[in-house]
Amino acid sequence: MKQEKERYTFNAAEFNEKVMKGHFKKIYPVIARQILERTGITSGRCIDLGGGPGMLAVELAKASALDVTVCDVTFECVALAKENSREHGVHERVSAVQGTAEKLPFDDNSIDLVVSRGSIFFWEDQQKGLSEVYRVLRPGGWAYIGGGFGTAELLQEILAEKADDVEWNEKRKERLAKNPPGHFEAMLRNLGIDGGVERGEASMWIIFTKSTTQP
Ligand SMILES: C[S@@+](CC[C@H](N)C(=O)[O-])C[C@H]1O[C@@H](n2cnc3c(N)ncnc32)[C@H](O)[C@@H]1O
Repeated sequence: MKQEKERYTFNAAEFNEKVMKGHFKKIYPVIARQILERTGITSGRCIDLGGGPGMLAVELAKASALDVTVCDVTFECVALAKENSREHGVHERVSAVQGTAEKLPFDDNSIDLVVSRGSIFFWEDQQKGLSEVYRVLRPGGWAYIGGGFGTAELLQEILAEKADDVEWNEKRKERLAKNPPGHFEAMLRNLGIDGGVERGEASMWIIFTKSTTQP
């Protein structure tokens, strides 16, 4: 019998209040700076894929001249991302749309930077999602996709704050075990994408640029 794949569901309002504006609040400005420095993309069109209530998008907009669109499968996140961008005064450069990684609602070769934190682990078809990211990037555009907490110190602070949250700790370990760097490196190879996986003390990012000389 064919097994139904569990659909991704989560409480967006609770995530916004308790996680994004709680334990994780301090990581987004740090990660935003790391992305801008690593990719050198500081203007143009950016997608925050699986951006949830949008605080990485907000911090990217604050630290650059990028126009950022949060694209998330969860309808509630779209509304929350718009609310957070207004709250932080960046609503003219941060928008939000509903969409899935596996079928991105963007044109080919139209995006300068795709970022995605803490989302790929939940995509139903990760390889299809990566191919979609590559499709929408303009030649010379960058992708920065994976997960992380900014710095080892921030990770340690969060682990201490979450020490009693047994379920969160178990699920995090499970996700890390199921998604080692080699798992994503194989997908990049299958897709013919020239990129790599960079593992840090508190992060793992799949990083690639779209070739300016198309095959
Ligand atoms: C753990 S949250 C991370 C949110 C945010 N990026 C952050 O760093 O806090 C995972 C997000 O990925 C979104 N998501 C899961 N599967 C997705 C898919 N296939 N396409 C787009 N978004 C997806 C969820 O709705 C959720 O907002």
